[in-house]
Amino acid sequence: MGRTVIRNGLVITAADEVTADVLIDGEQVVALGMPGSGLADTWSDGAERVIDATGRYVVPGGVDVHTHMELPFGGTFASDTFETGTRAAAWGGTTTIVDFAVQGVGQSLREGLDNWFAKAEGECAIDYGFHMIMGDVNDQSLKEMDVLVGEGITSFKLFMAYPGVFYSDDGQILRAMQSASGNGSLIMMHAENGIAIDVLIAQALERGQTDPKYHGVVRHALLEAEATHRAIQLARVAGAPVYIVHLSALEALAEVTAARDLGLNAFAETCPQYLYLSTDDLARPGFEGSKYVCSTPLRPVEHQAELWKGLRTNDLSVVSTDHCPFCFKEQKELGVGDFSKIPNGLPGVETRMDLLHQAVIDGHISRRRWIEIACTTPARMFGLYPRKGTIAPGADADVVIYDPAAEQVMSAETHHMNVDYSCYEGRTLTGKVATVLSRGKVVVDGGEYLGRKGDGKYLTRDTCQYLT
Ligand code: URP
Ligand code: ZN
Ligand code: ZN
Repeated sequence: MGRTVIRNGLVITAADEVTADVLIDGEQVVALGMPGSGLADTWSDGAERVIDATGRYVVPGGVDVHTHMELPFGGTFASDTFETGTRAAAWGGTTTIVDFAVQGVGQSLREGLDNWFAKAEGECAIDYGFHMIMGDVNDQSLKEMDVLVGEGITSFKLFMAYPGVFYSDDGQILRAMQSASGNGSLIMMHAENGIAIDVLIAQALERGQTDPKYHGVVRHALLEAEATHRAIQLARVAGAPVYIVHLSALEALAEVTAARDLGLNAFAETCPQYLYLSTDDLARPGFEGSKYVCSTPLRPVEHQAELWKGLRTNDLSVVSTDHCPFCFKEQKELGVGDFSKIPNGLPGVETRMDLLHQAVIDGHISRRRWIEIACTTPARMFGLYPRKGTIAPGADADVVIYDPAAEQVMSAETHHMNVDYSCYEGRTLTGKVATVLSRGKVVVDGGEYLGRKGDGKYLTRDTCQYLT
């Protein structure tokens, strides 16, 4: 691959906004130059490609650190494969994902991880790494953690929810956190009190409360807050950092904020669905609400202002998607007559960068904060920075040329995720991806996908770069 020069765009990173020319050589960014200085003319001589980005933003490719391609859940599988899901990510300006490999009960971590390598190998449109879901914390899997950290799997997800499936009890959680404290890895916590939730599910079903909206009722905000509090205290006892995933309740955010005010290594992410959707969507008529069933659940609309505030104050430091799509037909429909059988999860890997740009337009966050929460901080949090998450000499040339003035209407008719509905059907957004480069290769341009499956490479990761 030769040289690419991107001229005269507004280069936005977490740190700066500057009109600059960007020189890419092969797979890497090698220099930024001042427009008018003559540098770009020199670079353009003999370059393979010169892109005029006048009036456009030039931003790092998105880093989505929470996806579930092909996740087995509730008797079915998330409907995006690594091929379809990573292609959709590229369309939406995301050039790196970190997906969750799953250790099932009775399996070793290695077996679960090998299974995920087999699913992804040669399939991906963009670069990818793995976290490891620990579904069976025991003497052997605790030892295996150390080995995996040495191999670049530096984060492990535990579940306080889903008893009998992914659930870990407090003793297992404490032991995993103790191991993490020793090997430098980061525990990612699904913080909901699953034992209490299962009682409330059974009681609701006995009362004949079977509609999707009851999913939000039984998964009570206080049960998210309680689990968040417990996860943080267990992490303190173990001397380990903790990262709360898919935080949705303002009461849970208050727990994270209190921990961070104490100076603890407690971090949290939220997801676009919690910023833009609410229990009103879960309560849509008929079975429509099933399209909005995910865990943690959508909350009443009042929670959104607190989440936006948390993003501004950095008590929420990452926005990832928790992309876990299930088609309405035949998959969400598994829960007709019993909300607890609706597979949990929403599509989102393609729409995150645009929805967060809309937050810039709406005045919730600044442009630099957009890049920080969607690209830079996730890369730092999960040991991928500065290779990913910024535009700087030496970084991978994962670059998005973004048209901040283009309008688009979100729809299942036009999205590229392998799912038969959009959570945002008919919503108009300002801003749209124009061109995407993944390690220097143009993979999306002018409304066309130009990449190939297998373009994406596996990423070994360092440990979290935020620990104090
Ligand atoms: O509803 C969700 N979030 N599904 C995916 C699994 C998880 O808990 O992240
Ligand atoms: Zn989860
Ligand atoms: Zn998830």
